[in-house]
Amino acid sequence: MRYQLEKYVDPLPRMKRLQPMKKTKDGVHYEMTMKPFKSKLHRDLPATSLWGYNGQFPGLIIEANRDEPVHVTWLNQLPNKHLLPVDVSIHGLNQLPAVRTVVHLHGIETKPDSDGHPEAWYTNGFREIGPNFSRKTFTYPNHQRSSLLWYHDHAMGITRLNVYAGLAGMYILRDKQEKELNLPSGEYEVPLMITDKSFQEDGSLFYPSQPDGAAASLPNPSILPAFNGDTILVNGKVWPYLEVEPRKYRFRMLNASNTRSYRLQLDPNIGLQQIGSDGGLLRNAVGMEEIHFHPAERIDVIIDFSQAGGRSILLKNNLGQDADPNDDTSHIMQFRVTKGLKNKDQSLLPADLSTIPSLKQNNISTIRYLKLVGSSDQFGRPLLLLNNKHWHDPVTEKPKLGATEVWAFTNTTNFSHPIHIHLIQFQILDHQPFDLERYNADGHITFTGPPKAPAANQRGWKDTLEVPAANITRVIAKFAPYSGEFVWHCHILEHEDYDMMRPYIVEDDEQ
Ligand code: C2O
Ligand code: CU
Ligand code: CU
Repeated sequence: MRYQLEKYVDPLPRMKRLQPMKKTKDGVHYEMTMKPFKSKLHRDLPATSLWGYNGQFPGLIIEANRDEPVHVTWLNQLPNKHLLPVDVSIHGLNQLPAVRTVVHLHGIETKPDSDGHPEAWYTNGFREIGPNFSRKTFTYPNHQRSSLLWYHDHAMGITRLNVYAGLAGMYILRDKQEKELNLPSGEYEVPLMITDKSFQEDGSLFYPSQPDGAAASLPNPSILPAFNGDTILVNGKVWPYLEVEPRKYRFRMLNASNTRSYRLQLDPNIGLQQIGSDGGLLRNAVGMEEIHFHPAERIDVIIDFSQAGGRSILLKNNLGQDADPNDDTSHIMQFRVTKGLKNKDQSLLPADLSTIPSLKQNNISTIRYLKLVGSSDQFGRPLLLLNNKHWHDPVTEKPKLGATEVWAFTNTTNFSHPIHIHLIQFQILDHQPFDLERYNADGHITFTGPPKAPAANQRGWKDTLEVPAANITRVIAKFAPYSGEFVWHCHILEHEDYDMMRPYIVEDDEQ
């Protein structure tokens, strides 16, 4: 379907905060209910049926304070039939109820039973539960530095469909150190959730039930190797605009797209200062011409509109442009510096933002070489694996509780993958290119260049990173503070669902 939705006709929705149900001595308690709803995502588009937390897309923001635990009861009131085409040919999913959910808070350090294990799923009213289900209320201790986290569905084999249907929201963790910096705050701190979707003319979500030109022998529905929508949404509106004052703003951005990566750029380029990454503030602000933005990553930026009074500034995606200059997906949103300055801008952009101790000082217990591998399944469909293992194969990665390890992701496929590890924040050591053709011919890794240090904006804490094709990308992490079973996976949701996800176990010898 091709029709033209006019850009920059709807204002950017300001995301609201969820009110707690109660506060007790053991923390703040919330309840969130997943349910179907309809919403107009663009002025000229009929209302779209979606699934959302409390019937909203994006879900409301949960705001938490460091060391103050948050408890969320995540209720499922979804119908029994899925909104989107479910492929039941993967992982024996035909045995499972079509609609099942479990929530993962991406970036949180919590125990396994609150982490949203893919097989801890449950159906409407907890009537059916997966093998790893153990509790209805999840606890987030928040013993970690301030950062933007996000909650999203993580149910086995259908994460791509549940998240695409609208099951995603933000969680902002705050601490004293950050407050003392006096960064732009209140209405000048704006969360931006970027997603791509496609629509039918009646406004309904479009998600293909089979890859383009699928052979008749493929299952129907059949999982796609990747999904890129033709329309970009920010905070649940198609190509919105935001009216701003001529002053500094802080934008907390999340790429919540299934597959799509972006290369963000301002047009005209009035300056983009990156101050944070997945795990919170960087050491120093980094001036960026453009920012690569992969699925599940968060970036924290300051834009100073003070010299741009009266002008319009576009947030663009250069990746869309590279593919095709007329591609609509090279557009994201528009800032209009049309508001008057309400008060003098007292906020700061300090030179020093935070301290980040390097993990390289630690004793490194283990270096794991983990291969990203392409193969195919019995239908000839691409099947991407980690270390040639399927999701259900026995656990192979078992770091000891408190151990520091290096994980060296060896990408033998032809494209990059955003790799995410639950429980921990890591630091990127380097990327080293190797000869992929030779590797494919004889299995040998021959480096074609020296290791490259991460870019300046990649030197903070990360939980998801781009692992480029034909490179070994090394990260270092301390596996703490909780033991038990977690997962690591590619965050392209079409890959994660089939079968680029593996369990891992943090082993506690004392137990
Ligand atoms: Cu954002 Cu395991 O996921
Ligand atoms: Cu996660
Ligand atoms: Cu992938």
